Amino acid sequence: MHHFHYVDEELYCENVPVGRICEDVGTPVYVYSRETLVRHFRKFEEPFADLNHLICYSMKACSNLAILHVFCGLGGGVDIVSGGELYRALKAGVPPSRIVYSGVGKKAAEMDEALEADILLFNVESEEEVELLAQRAGTLGKKARIAVRVNPDVDPRTHPYISTGLKRNKFGIEVERSLDLYRRAGSMESLEPVGVDCHIGSQLTDLSPFMEAVDRLGELIGALRSEGINIRYLDIGGGLGIPYDQEEPPSPADYGQAVIERVRDMGVTLILEPGRVLVGNAGILVTRVLYQKRGTLKHFVIVDAAMNDLMRPVLYKAYHGIWRVLQDGRGGEPRKVIADVVGPICESGDFLAQDRELDEMRSGDLLALMSAGAYGFSMSSNYNSRPRAAEVLVVGDEYFVVRERETYEDLIRGERIPDKTP
Ligand code: LLP
Repeated sequence: MHHFHYVDEELYCENVPVGRICEDVGTPVYVYSRETLVRHFRKFEEPFADLNHLICYSMKACSNLAILHVFCGLGGGVDIVSGGELYRALKAGVPPSRIVYSGVGKKAAEMDEALEADILLFNVESEEEVELLAQRAGTLGKKARIAVRVNPDVDPRTHPYISTGLKRNKFGIEVERSLDLYRRAGSMESLEPVGVDCHIGSQLTDLSPFMEAVDRLGELIGALRSEGINIRYLDIGGGLGIPYDQEEPPSPADYGQAVIERVRDMGVTLILEPGRVLVGNAGILVTRVLYQKRGTLKHFVIVDAAMNDLMRPVLYKAYHGIWRVLQDGRGGEPRKVIADVVGPICESGDFLAQDRELDEMRSGDLLALMSAGAYGFSMSSNYNSRPRAAEVLVVGDEYFVVRERETYEDLIRGERIPDKTP
């Protein structure tokens, strides 16, 4: 459920015509609906009302300060994976007591920043990381709360690039090996093992892998407690899928119910790290048609957004629905075409949709790539020296530019031609 809808023949985000935003701000532009963000957060949180819990939005999905501010205002925290994300989270006003830090490659300086901020929890992923964190915390005179991210070896049955909970993936530590690490961490002055963590993958459309993972973590908590290691937090990561096309993922209510049944008696504070399910369908990428080109084999619709703006189609063969911002005003049923929607980048992988049935369109028409709120802007780049798109947040009948379109000057910020260059 989201707040992008047609009024007569025109696409609106909440009460604002998307076409108006494009006139004012230009294209390509990401447009987010605040009401949808709020609704998704509340729906996701609802089942956990009777349990001690913390929703740590996985901010890699969309890390704009304004989005973080919305979730923070609803009581959420964040799951971070870099010093840059910590910086953003603090700038957005997220209290450190609601920040958990995941990721396999934390650097010493990043650890220091998080230790200084006194974040809630470090999700550690290897023996060497634990040694370094202990040393950094010791040096700074801090005690770091840690959870070991375990790899429960369950198959999330999702795209291989976003599957993380199998032994062949780089993430986490095998459950059997984690016991020794907990013992070692427990013996260290500067570390306090307080949690168990996992994240098995993203865009899951089935409940059973989640449940298998939670069961394994439950057993581990029992084993740890029997050794006197007092586990107070269970972090089950994110991963709940959303409908992009024909998928039918479990509803947040069903997911929540199934988790609660297993976690209720564990005596832990439950941490959840949803990303996509909160923001995916709350954002669209709007682009303008530049040209059309009809070859013998293919019909190309060339638009002003490209793979640098939305990488998901080429990277994961991901599907994003395409809606017209102004539906056909010419009367009658629009003619259909089968087309590839492509951008201006010099790569054949630069497509946003392939062999898609679309209404026939004209140069100047606006198209909305739906469900682009998660891993859209946050994965965008400057490839081909394209300034990154603007981001807009709609609130009822107002809209706010929450990130300005980059300029050419932004493109060369920090670059220098050395004096010695002939
Ligand atoms: N927690 C951790 C430790 C994660 O690595 C991730 C996502 C999440 C939570 C949030 O997962 P979500 O609820 O969003 O599924 N770029 C890919 C998705 C990569 C996901 C990476 N980790 C895509 O566009 O589909």
